[in-house]
Amino acid sequence: MTATAGAATEPRLRAMALLTGRGISLVSGHGCTLVDRDGREYVDLVSNYGVNVLGHAHPAVTAAITAQAATLTNAHQSFDSPVRGEFLEALGSLLPAALTQVCFLNSGSESLEVAIKLARVATGRERIVAMHRGYHGRTLGALSLTASAAYRDPFGPLLPGVNHVAYDDLDALDGVLDESVAAVVVEPLQGEAGVRVPSSGYMAGLRQRCTAAGALLVADEVQTGLRTGAILACSHDGVIPDIVCLGKGIANGLPMAVTGCTEAVGARMPTGGHGSTFAGSPLVCAAGSVTLRILADPLLHRRVAELGSEAVNSLGALPAPLVREVRGRGLMIGIDLRVPATPLIAELQRRGILVLRGGRTVIRLLPPLIIDDQVWRESLGTIAEVIGTAGLP
Ligand SMILES: Cc1ncc(COP(=O)(O)O)c(C=O)c1O
Repeated sequence: MTATAGAATEPRLRAMALLTGRGISLVSGHGCTLVDRDGREYVDLVSNYGVNVLGHAHPAVTAAITAQAATLTNAHQSFDSPVRGEFLEALGSLLPAALTQVCFLNSGSESLEVAIKLARVATGRERIVAMHRGYHGRTLGALSLTASAAYRDPFGPLLPGVNHVAYDDLDALDGVLDESVAAVVVEPLQGEAGVRVPSSGYMAGLRQRCTAAGALLVADEVQTGLRTGAILACSHDGVIPDIVCLGKGIANGLPMAVTGCTEAVGARMPTGGHGSTFAGSPLVCAAGSVTLRILADPLLHRRVAELGSEAVNSLGALPAPLVREVRGRGLMIGIDLRVPATPLIAELQRRGILVLRGGRTVIRLLPPLIIDDQVWRESLGTIAEVIGTAGLP
C-alpha cells in the first residue's frame, strides 16, 4: 500500500492531549538527573510527581527489576509468590501494627477506589466526607472525592453522598459528621492544592471525631507517604488511620499502590470484593521490596526532615516581595507566590531545574529523597535567584 506524503510525517495514532507538554523529551536518568534527547541534563525536583523517591536508575532497584524480569514477571494473585511475600514483610515492618491487611493495586486512584469500597462494606454506610481542594485521583470514585470543579464537572453525575468541607477546620467537619458517615478522607498535607500543611492537632482531631461517630478515617498518603521525614505523614501527629492509601514511590517508579487497613475493616471485604489482573505482580513486588528495605533506614528520614526544614527556612527568609509563604514537611515543599507560578517554572526549566506547579501560584518541590546536599542547595539558590529577579506585575 502506498502511503500519502502527509502520512509519512504525521503519526496515525497520538496520545490524547490531556496535558500541557513541558516541551522536552526525556531519554534517561540517573540519581537526581534527567537527560533529554539532546543530551541536556536537568536536576529533577519533580520525581514524576513524587514517584522516584530513590532517584532514577537506582542500582539496587535496577538489579532487582532485572533479576525478576528474567525470572517471573507476572503471576496472578490466585497463585502465591515468594516475592509478594517479601514485599508484604518489608511493608509490614514499616506500617503501624494496627494495619494488618493490604489490597494490591496499580495506581493511587485505584487505592482510593478500594478505600471507598472498604468504608462502605465495613460500616454499612454510604456518606463520605472529603476536603475542599483535596486531590484523590481521577477515576470516577476517586474523582467524587477530588474537589476541583475543573476535574469533576465534565463527568457527572459522580458518587452520591459525598460532602466536601474546609480543610484544617474541625468545626466544618462537625457540621456534617454524624452516624450516617462511612469515612472521612484526608490528605495529611494537601499536595495538588499547593502543599497545604494543617495545624498541629488537626489530624488527631479528625481521628477522635471519626472514632466517636463510628466513621472510618482514611489517610490518603499517596503523595505524602515516604517523603515527609516518616513513612506515613499522619504518624507525625501520632494518628493511626483505619485505612491508608499508598502509591507513587513505593516501588520507585513501577506502577504499584496498596490500600492498607485494620483487621476489623479488612475482615468485612467479601471474597472477590476487588481484583486487578496486574496488581501485586512479582515484578513490581521485587521493585517494591528493595525500595522499602532501603526506606527502612531511619537516618534517611531524619535527613529528609532536615533538608526540608532547612529549605523552608531559607526560602521563607527570602526578601523577595513575590513570596507569600513557603511551607511543607520533609521533601514536599510549596513556595506560594503572589504571581502565577508557570513563568517561573519555565525559567527554572531553561536553567536546568525541573519543578512542579501546585495550584496557580505555587512552585512545588518533590525531589528524590536521595538528593545530594550540594545539588539541593545549589538548586534552592537558583530558585531563590529566579524568584528574586522576577518582577511583580
Ligand atoms: C493525594 C493523592 N491521591 C491520589 C492520587 C492519584 O494517584 P494516581 O495518579 O497514581 O492515580 C494522587 C496523585 O497525584 C495524589 O496526590
